[in-house]
Amino acid sequence: MDYPHISVLKEEVLESFKPMQIHRFIDGTLGAGGHAEAILKSHPEIEQLVGIDRDQSALKIASARLMPFSGKTRFLHAQFSNALGALLKEGEGVYDGILLDLGVSSMQLDEEERGFSFREEGPLDMRMDKSNPLTAGIIVNTYPEEELGWIFREWGEEKMWRKAAQAIVKARLQSPLNTTKELADLMQESIRSRKPQIHAATLVFQALRIAVNDELKAIDEALPIALKLLKKGGRLAVISFHSLEDRIVKRFFQKESLDKESTSGIGGLFIDREPSLKTLTRKPLEATDREVADNPRSRSAKLRVAEKL
Ligand SMILES: C[S@@+](CC[C@H](N)C(=O)[O-])C[C@H]1O[C@@H](n2cnc3c(N)ncnc32)[C@H](O)[C@@H]1O
Repeated sequence: MDYPHISVLKEEVLESFKPMQIHRFIDGTLGAGGHAEAILKSHPEIEQLVGIDRDQSALKIASARLMPFSGKTRFLHAQFSNALGALLKEGEGVYDGILLDLGVSSMQLDEEERGFSFREEGPLDMRMDKSNPLTAGIIVNTYPEEELGWIFREWGEEKMWRKAAQAIVKARLQSPLNTTKELADLMQESIRSRKPQIHAATLVFQALRIAVNDELKAIDEALPIALKLLKKGGRLAVISFHSLEDRIVKRFFQKESLDKESTSGIGGLFIDREPSLKTLTRKPLEATDREVADNPRSRSAKLRVAEKL
């Protein structure tokens, strides 16, 4: 059966967990359940797989897909940092593997009424969880110019952040921006893309999506909890899709792999300590040319894997 999302770096993810006996596993970003299914198939010893997603419609697709494993699965509709926090209350150091495949799914990107894509006409929504009251439309039509500029600079790394914010504030004085197309067209008129083949609205849309879903805070909060949930020898695998996500993962892995800890800021002392992680991917794993040809969305994916010490 064809599913609406093709899992990226599937072989590399399976390889990362291959040498292990997995009894309990967490997929923190279940999506269409492709990675979870592959892991359940290649590890028949799994007793429980917890699948988390903040998108109710993803959970529906994944739970139907994982029906053959129904005795082993447990689904949680929540933001992953909250769900991991709740699992931690049930016990520390009990999971053998945790996977986070960050960002949005093809289902979310391709459904125009979700409002994620500047290529489709839809409402300015961008919520992964439809019960979240904040939409991209609210941000675009009500946030002050400085705050819009900050979002585009910090979360879009958009060089023309000031112009983008100014254009929005000017346009909304005439009438609110209601659709993805209105915003995409406005960005095309007001700012230039760094590369001609990339749409001018790309980074503004990325920034708005991160803001609506508070995506970076969720990753920041989730990684230390994931570490606590793992057994010694357990593995954490994270797939990121842009440099802001990858930087958080890379820094966390680096910090937890150090055998020294700074006692205070610049010029402070370093004390010895036991590292808590060993990074298994010195450089992140990326999709092969063949995978990129089959699934262009894998082009920017980076997989980092670490083992708990
Ligand atoms: C790239 S897709 C995952 C695809 C999945 N690995 C597969 O093979 O089908 C990312 C999924 O994670 C969910 N997601 C992203 N950030 C989340 C968060 N902070 N908490 C919970 N779910 C999140 C999205 O709703 C989306 O369904």
